[in-house]
Amino acid sequence: MNDHPITHPPRIIDGKAFGADIRARVAEQTARLRADHGIIPGLAVVLVGEDPASRLYVRNKGIQTREAGMNSYEYRLPADTTQTDLMALIERLNADSAVHGILIQLPLPPHMEAGAVINAIDPAKDVDGFHILNAGLLGTGQKAMVPCTPLGCLMMLRDHLGDLSGLHAVVVGRSNIVGKPMALLLLGDNCTVTVAHSRSRDLAGICRRADILIAAVGRPRMIPGDWIKPGATVIDVGINRIEQDGRSRVVGDVDFDSAARVAGAITPVPGGVGPMTIACLLANTLTACCRANGLAVPEGLTA
Ligand code: GUN
Repeated sequence: MNDHPITHPPRIIDGKAFGADIRARVAEQTARLRADHGIIPGLAVVLVGEDPASRLYVRNKGIQTREAGMNSYEYRLPADTTQTDLMALIERLNADSAVHGILIQLPLPPHMEAGAVINAIDPAKDVDGFHILNAGLLGTGQKAMVPCTPLGCLMMLRDHLGDLSGLHAVVVGRSNIVGKPMALLLLGDNCTVTVAHSRSRDLAGICRRADILIAAVGRPRMIPGDWIKPGATVIDVGINRIEQDGRSRVVGDVDFDSAARVAGAITPVPGGVGPMTIACLLANTLTACCRANGLAVPEGLTA
């Protein structure tokens, strides 16, 4: 519980509906590319090994790619594939003009060096935005392919708050996939940004100063309602599987029930950030396809 009075019911930011809206806009633009230019965006997804969660993600990506009217090329390689063979496949995909986006599903098996594999992708086809060149472009405020999860968070924040200028954003988490790019995107939108993490001193006090709180630490319900400034916008990136009352369930990094009493708006888990990630992957594939063909990138689908 927390001591803040309940001032108003918080708005629940519906990532499922917003993600569906983004996918519909991507599908519309994809249909236009096909009709006007005879171009069909293509996304190649590579899965190495049998990890059940990764298999499910890859399956869903394939389904949603096809639903958007794009071509989906799926490669399922055995866990003992050599890095040399994986690199050879990436080279083929880099050279294939029907492939506009390449995603190597992570984690890779331990015998592979993920950094080297990712940096072998053509940066223009790096729809995950994990290539060192894209990280550098984002870090220097230049046009980059942007990682999908933070891009989805940014879209939800702009949709809910409009102009983010001058707001204090606190990002809890410093991963290369979410925390760091999220902080850079918020700086790009003129926020004052604090990056905190599990070792930060007075994490509660830092969070209480946030107008925008992004939780991306991977610890179930770590952030309670009394760490949240009344009226703040809370984006929960956590997807943590826990056992509760003998059942398995998924919860975020924020304790939703106590946080929802204080926040102005909050994303639920599930149904918040999660559905935005694949929507942004499709948006990035469309962006990569437009750039590859010298066409304008549609408004509202990029950072
Ligand atoms: N594994 C879990 N999430 C992701 C993601 O966003 N991209 C890739 N490539 N692998 C993942």
